[in-house]
Parts: sequence; structure tokens; C-alpha cells
Amino acid sequence: MIGLRARSSAPDLAIDLGTANVRLATARSGLVLDQPSLVARDGRGSLVAAGHEAVHLARHSPSGLSFTAPLAGGVVVDLDAAVALVHWALRQVAATGRRRPHAVASVPVGATEVERRALETAIVSAGTRSPLTVVEEPLSAAIGAGLAVADPYGSMVLDVGAGITEAAVVAEGGVVASSSARVGCRAVAGLVARHMSRRHGLTLRPGAAQRIWPRTLAPGAGGGLTVEGCDVRSGQFRALEVGCEELAAVVQTPLHAMATVAREALERAPIDLAADVAGQGLALVGGGARVPGLGAHLSAGTALPVRVPPDPLHAVATGSAACLRQVAVLPRP
Ligand SMILES: Nc1ncnc2c1ncn2[C@@H]1O[C@H](COP(=O)(O)OP(=O)(O)OP(=O)(O)O)[C@@H](O)[C@H]1O
Ligand SMILES: [Mg+2]
Repeated sequence: MIGLRARSSAPDLAIDLGTANVRLATARSGLVLDQPSLVARDGRGSLVAAGHEAVHLARHSPSGLSFTAPLAGGVVVDLDAAVALVHWALRQVAATGRRRPHAVASVPVGATEVERRALETAIVSAGTRSPLTVVEEPLSAAIGAGLAVADPYGSMVLDVGAGITEAAVVAEGGVVASSSARVGCRAVAGLVARHMSRRHGLTLRPGAAQRIWPRTLAPGAGGGLTVEGCDVRSGQFRALEVGCEELAAVVQTPLHAMATVAREALERAPIDLAADVAGQGLALVGGGARVPGLGAHLSAGTALPVRVPPDPLHAVATGSAACLRQVAVLPRP
């Protein structure tokens, strides 16, 4: 278990390297960078752009460049691209140079030892001090969500990200029970996009699936949705009506998996702490907290009250940064 103790040598910079977004935060300023996790490189592998600029290039002038998302499912899948992205991010906040910053990185509780090491290697190779301080991501998320993590009472956080969903019961400064699954908002949108292409011959515009699937969560969702896109065969723009129930069936499995993660974390917690959570409910953070209707859906699937704290997208980054000033994070045993 990773816990918190009185400050000895606290890190300068908190890093949340996510599937969809990379975020940096400091204790003094809070969030200092929030950019898409994407790099654009030329034929020789040199970085051309990263973040929003890379997304823009991918949409408007992709020829001659390769575009790489360094993470999938919450973990690093392309080490070189991850190093390039973090190095670029550090440069954006002027955290490079002779004095390497001491960083704290949040790592998914569900990451394997190899995946954990890949993340650490990427961040240190990008220009931070070694050894890197590592904290379990749900603990950062709980702090960022404003939960009283130091209390002896149990509280719970559920982080639904782009690629990974993690839940933890926290008490006395540490994670006491957790669960994790490689499923997130991106997979749900991907299922809708694939379904529309295969079943209806319609290629959706970028971002369209992300806007469509939350409509299946609306109370009493039924009837039809108008979905627009490009006909796979003719290349012509067209719109068609799709049944809400048809799309609800498409997204059912990953949504069920998200609720299961929360239930598992609760089942693994000591009974008294689980009882605290049952009374209080859970805090929902990550991109999933911004999806209309997902909180209510997860509340029904867990039989727990679900609340969304202010700024749920940045909870991991600001949570780990918030503890920088007062505490240092215990190294892993
Ligand atoms: N209003 C919204 N409607 C639908 N989806 C949304 C909305 N807002 C955010 N999202 C989803 O949330 C994702 C971003 O979530 P988040 O920033 O928590 O991911 P991440 O931290 O980069 O990923 P992970 O923690 O899984 O590695 C987006 O890719 C999108 O799929
Ligand atoms: Mg995340």
C-alpha cells in the first residue's frame, strides 16, 4: 500500500499521463498543462508537434507525418512516443534544463509491474529526476476529489477515464481496496462508431460517437436518434434514424464493466469501511464524470449515491499536486 507521511523531500511537479490527456500540476499553481496525449513525428521520427497541435495536424494535414497515441488502456504502449510527449510537456512548462524536476507520477492500480516500469522509464527519460515518486492513481484522484483520505473512515472514488476505469476505497492516507478494468469512455465511443460502420455503412465524424452514446443513458431513453455521417460506399453525407435501444445494447458491456469495478472495490474493503462508503456514496472523476447520465447509470449499477466533485477531469493531477506541499509519498516497498 502507498501511504502518506510528513514531508521530507517533496516533488515539484505532478504528472498524470493518461490515455487521452497529459496533465501537469504544481502545488503552487495547480494545473499548469492539459493537452491531448498525441504526438506527430516526421519520417525520421523527429517530433513535429504534440498535444492540441498534433490533433489539429492529424485532422488537417496528415501527409508525411505519423501520429501516435503513446498510451492505451491507461498504460504506455509506445515508450519512445511517451518519452517524446512527456519531454514536450515538460518544455511547455519550462520544467527542463540542468535542474531536473522531481516529479510525482500517478500510476493505475491495475498496471502490471512491467507497465508501471514503462511509465516510470518514460517520465524519467523525458527529463525528470530519478528515482521518480509514484503514487497510486485512485489515491491522487481521491485527494483531488476532496475526499478526507487521512480520516479513519472509508471513502470511495471511481475514475472513469478514456482507457481505464479504477475504483478505490481509501482511509488513513492510503488505498485499502481497489479494482481496475481496461475499459473507458473511448472504448464505448469506439463500439458505437464500429457498429454504425458495420451495421449501417456510416462512417461517423471524429467526436460524433462520443456525443451519441450518452444519449442512450437518458432517463427512459427510447425512440430514435438521428445519426449523421459519411456513407461507406458512396462517400456521400447522409443521416439516418437509429433506435436508442439498439445503441444501448451496443454499449451495455463496457458500462456494466465500469459499475463492476466500483462494486469489486467495495466488496474487497473491510466491512466497517464498506459501511462508511455505503452511507456516503462515491465520488466520480475522470472524463466519465462529464458524460451526461453516466453518474446516474453507475449509481443504479452500484446501489450507491454518486456525486461529481468540482473539476473531475483534473482530480488526479491536482490531487497529487495538492499533497506535494504537505506530504511526501512513501516509496513502494
Ligand atoms: N461530455 C463528454 N461526453 C462524452 N465523453 C466525454 C465527455 N467528456 C469527456 N469524455 C470522455 O472522457 C475522455 C477523457 O477522459 P480522461 O481525461 O479522464 O482520460 P485520461 O485520464 O486521459 O485517460 P485514462 O485515465 O483512462 O488513461 C475523453 O476521451 C472522452 O472519451
Ligand atoms: Mg486518467
